[in-house]
Amino acid sequence: MTVQEILIWPNPELLHISEPVDTITDDIRTLVDDMFETMYAHDGVGLAAPQIGVKKRILVVDIHSPDAERPSGEDPIVMINPVFTRQEGALEWEEGCLSVPGETGKVTRAADIEMTFMDLNGETQTLTADGLTAVALQHEVDHLDGKLFVAYLSPMKRKIIKRKMLKLIKSREEHVHGPDCNH
Ligand code: NI
Repeated sequence: MTVQEILIWPNPELLHISEPVDTITDDIRTLVDDMFETMYAHDGVGLAAPQIGVKKRILVVDIHSPDAERPSGEDPIVMINPVFTRQEGALEWEEGCLSVPGETGKVTRAADIEMTFMDLNGETQTLTADGLTAVALQHEVDHLDGKLFVAYLSPMKRKIIKRKMLKLIKSREEHVHGPDCNH
């Protein structure tokens, strides 16, 4: 399992519609392992494949840390080609995103959801969720459609966050290529 680099918004690679997965291969299993590793390394609750540069409709969600005691029914979630079959009610949450590090914003999502998806055995599954799990799943499916939570914020707030992220991207590039760099 490898921690992969997470693309930072507004990287245009994050704005594509990802492709469905036909069959589960070893490459897909490795990708999912890397997604979990990358998500846990950054204390995230969800990650979508396009965030590590793979435009496939795959997401992972875990609202617990990997070694935490977890209530039954709250295992780590892997979804391939997820589709909503029910989205009801409204739930406002202060969301963050590993592609927008350090920033949050209020977003309203459906409170109760039902989804169908393919699991890592290639079987079709159904899952119902509410609370943070429902929020995270809707946030991750947005990534598969090239949409980030900042799209729901006011233009002003989005502009401020974009400026910070461009600065962050630039500082990381300078770190890699800077004159004081010794690696
Ligand atoms: Ni995100």
